[in-house]
Amino acid sequence: MRDFLENEVPYIHFKDVSFSYPGKKENLIFKCNLSIKKPGFWMVVGKNGSGKSTLLKLINGIINPNTGVINSKANIGMVFQNPDHQILMPNCRSELLINIKQNISDYEINKKIENVLDQVGLTGFEKRPTHTLSGGQKQRLTIACALISNSNFILLDEPTALLDQTSQLKVLNTIKNLTNDNKKPLSALWITHRYEELTYADSVAELKNGFLSTWQEPSKFQYN
Ligand SMILES: Nc1ncnc2c1ncn2[C@@H]1O[C@H](COP(=O)(O)OP(=O)(O)OP(=O)(O)O)[C@@H](O)[C@H]1O
Ligand SMILES: [Mg+2]
Repeated sequence: MRDFLENEVPYIHFKDVSFSYPGKKENLIFKCNLSIKKPGFWMVVGKNGSGKSTLLKLINGIINPNTGVINSKANIGMVFQNPDHQILMPNCRSELLINIKQNISDYEINKKIENVLDQVGLTGFEKRPTHTLSGGQKQRLTIACALISNSNFILLDEPTALLDQTSQLKVLNTIKNLTNDNKKPLSALWITHRYEELTYADSVAELKNGFLSTWQEPSKFQYN
């Protein structure tokens, strides 16, 4: 199933999705109609506690809506705020290796590893111990892990929250380049509370008081 989807355009479609955690009366997400049907750099902005991570959990099926319907067809990869919660192995090569899901030759494995490291600006980092990477390099390694597992839709939950500005810009540019790639553009949904990041996106929506706005161009985005 995963490999079969590799060359398809992934999509995610919510129809009037509402969600509240057990025991809570108010909907955290209310009648949400999120729709992403083409590759690109999509950003959702919202304040602390507005339900951003919950929205991602609905997308990747960790939780189910109380009402409404979610249709999706995508190989989803995740990048979390803290890469130390995600990186398991002692060096970059072994971290990438555990994310390869196909049965392929050593030659193909090496090619794939070289290729994804190039794509995230970590050329030649195969042997590098993961504990010696900077925070931004670790985030780019987690993106490479998503790529090597054939993800065609990456969900990033505040991936720059722990980074300084230089690393933040490198991670933003990495996703920008991957989503702009003419040959095989990626779909990325980036969650943030940092308004200055919105200019990198192709489309922006805001999650506020349970409501998700429609997609807007970053230059026309209305700050509420
Ligand atoms: N498993 C859970 N059970 C009950 N309530 C939860 C659960 N997970 C989150 N919440 C509550 O839901 C609300 C939204 O949480 P969520 O983590 O989705 O927000 P967020 O926008 O990602 O916040 P942040 O910017 O701090 O990451 C918060 O009030 C939180 O306490
Ligand atoms: Mg969150």
